[in-house]
Amino acid sequence: MQESNNQWAAIDCQSLQTAYLAALQRPILNRINFTIQNGEFVTLLGLNGAGKSTLLRSLMGLVPIHQGSVTISGMPLSPRTLPQIRQKMGILFQGGGLIPQLSALDNVLCGRLGQLPSWRTLTGFHHSDRRRALELLDHLGLKELASQKTRCLSGGQQQRVAIARALIQSPKILLVDEPIAGLDVLATQQVMDTLAQLNRDGITIVAVLHDLAIAAKYAERAIVLDQGTVVHDGSPHQLSAHFQMQA
Ligand SMILES: Nc1ncnc2c1ncn2[C@@H]1O[C@H](COP(=O)(O)OP(=O)(O)OP(=O)(O)O)[C@@H](O)[C@H]1O
Ligand SMILES: [Mg+2]
Repeated sequence: MQESNNQWAAIDCQSLQTAYLAALQRPILNRINFTIQNGEFVTLLGLNGAGKSTLLRSLMGLVPIHQGSVTISGMPLSPRTLPQIRQKMGILFQGGGLIPQLSALDNVLCGRLGQLPSWRTLTGFHHSDRRRALELLDHLGLKELASQKTRCLSGGQQQRVAIARALIQSPKILLVDEPIAGLDVLATQQVMDTLAQLNRDGITIVAVLHDLAIAAKYAERAIVLDQGTVVHDGSPHQLSAHFQMQA
């Protein structure tokens, strides 16, 4: 675990390993080591099946860790620390994970469910939560679409709703899994610019991407996974050698 500027690193993984999987004849994640400092914008790259989504999910305590450790802002990941850790970290799952028949506003409010006592979910959201959700949608250029069902929104608009949902708990760290999959150039730029602005506002970003040019444009550091191990951790430029077909 590393400290910088008297603060804990945002994310620290030491020899992180998931259980052995017979189908793969290896663990999905195999002795992963890296430290991400507060305020970094890191892209996580790798071919399909490399383990990127599993790695993001393991940082949120959604995948059992067989060996090694994950430490978030100085807190070792454990059942006891998980609620606190989940308050610090927002995640945008691959595919967005929105509920299509709910409005943009209600989808954003769903991001609060993990922090509310169950009785509160029966009585409805507090008006301060609704105000915050509207502020976020406004901030992301979606205020006019707040009452639209998300199935009626474009892919780029849906991704921004998903970002708003991840932001409603004011995370210090944002994990985003393929936020620009299927988007056109304009929507891609909007979503990536949104992430860049959040990063300038001080949020640590870890983004799974497949586009090397976009990764090099927005991230300051790339971690490349191959078959569950880190094969590159450093500059996001000139990474194509890691993605060439093997003869
Ligand atoms: N719950 C699971 N049970 C068994 N195997 C799994 C499970 N989740 C993922 N895997 C396997 O682990 C490997 C890594 O999957 P993961 O979804 O992390 O890859 P990825 O790098 O995100 O790929 P993609 O770019 O396609 O999204 C794959 O071989 C996948 O089949
Ligand atoms: Mg994935």
